[in-house]
Amino acid sequence: MKLFHNIRTLYTPTGFSARRGAEMQSIEEFENAAIFVDDRGRILNVGSFVEDRAPAPSVASSGKVSIEYIDCHGFVALPGFVDSHTHCAFAGERSDEFAMRAEGKSYQEIAKAGGGIRASVEQVRHSSMAEIVHYSKPFVERALALGTTLMEIKSGYGLAVEQERKLLKAMDELQRETPMEIVKTFLGAHAVPSGIPHGAYVTDVLDNQLPALHHLAEFCDVFMDEGYFTEDETRSICHKAKALGLKIKLHADELEATRGAETAVELGAFSADHLLKVSAEGIRALAGSRGLPPTIATLLPITALSLRAPHAPARKLIDTGCAVAIATDCNPGSAMSENMQFAFTLAVIGMQLTPEEALTAATLNGAAALDRARTHGSLERNKLADFVLYDIPSLEYLPYHIAVSDVAAVVKSGEIVAGSL
Ligand code: NIG
Ligand code: FE
Repeated sequence: MKLFHNIRTLYTPTGFSARRGAEMQSIEEFENAAIFVDDRGRILNVGSFVEDRAPAPSVASSGKVSIEYIDCHGFVALPGFVDSHTHCAFAGERSDEFAMRAEGKSYQEIAKAGGGIRASVEQVRHSSMAEIVHYSKPFVERALALGTTLMEIKSGYGLAVEQERKLLKAMDELQRETPMEIVKTFLGAHAVPSGIPHGAYVTDVLDNQLPALHHLAEFCDVFMDEGYFTEDETRSICHKAKALGLKIKLHADELEATRGAETAVELGAFSADHLLKVSAEGIRALAGSRGLPPTIATLLPITALSLRAPHAPARKLIDTGCAVAIATDCNPGSAMSENMQFAFTLAVIGMQLTPEEALTAATLNGAAALDRARTHGSLERNKLADFVLYDIPSLEYLPYHIAVSDVAAVVKSGEIVAGSL
């Protein structure tokens, strides 16, 4: 067993499901805290030191128990970030498009001119699995060093059975080669590859890709938006995916309001992501999604910044009672960043979340969006000991110190995997 002690303040949301609306503000704070971890990397107890005694472990310890004491030097502890939306398996960069956007071209104009998702598809098709792993691994490792301990990765730069398989297998390899815990999402319906009619491609996703690949992923996502996939196509793909045992996420209402949020709720999706253009009905649908699970509104402020688009209506979503998560959307086109702390800062500065709400959004609600809220996303008994120690005085210092990392150490399942103590 390990006892991480001498933590100046430990901040964590609590609970085993998403926090919605006003609940997102509620954060537990323990001064002079300690975290007791068992040999499987699970939390036995979390709390403040009282009279120099550690919080008693909740297990009956018969006989001799050896405890390793780890001094956390007065650092602040937060749960590891859960980055619940990334496309972090790719094979090359697209800074040329970034420069075109700086000259005033839109994401859609660049896509029409042969850039966008299709450019990344070309790069992936010309790369082996080992090359994709080699290219993506530094992004995953940097994400870890910046405090992310659980990361979702989507396919969607292959757009054909064997190419999508290569990406999903590359994610398995990233999981093996790094301490990052990875959740895999199949996103065959990300775009239509050039040379294939739209309808024929939807048929390929339904009849070839899903049957061949469903066992390699946990979630299925669809880019439901103007110029990408329609509501009807999204429904067919998601129904088939659900029949094959996959859980659902949607890229929803990013470029235009196309009933993405409403469709996500109707399909029982774990999350509706982006939502830059979500309608009032969409917000109401998300707030009313009381099913098991509720549909999380996953907001991606780095994408809005990078596309020079207004942020998603985060305040409206929270004030209406939705459960909001934030994630990076890390991808080579619209959000070239694996830095959850930067998403956190933008959530506070650009979307008017409080630091407490942003913490819930970046941890527990992200875990809920990945169906991991029972085991991840907060620091409490029976969850994994995934936490980050920061050389900062308080929670609000984290978004306040813009784009600079104060991470001292990252702990995944009770092991220090980045930084040192
Ligand atoms: O989430 N919106 C769709 N897909 C990605 C962009 C992917 C790309 O441009 O490569 C996104 O922003
Ligand atoms: Fe995305």
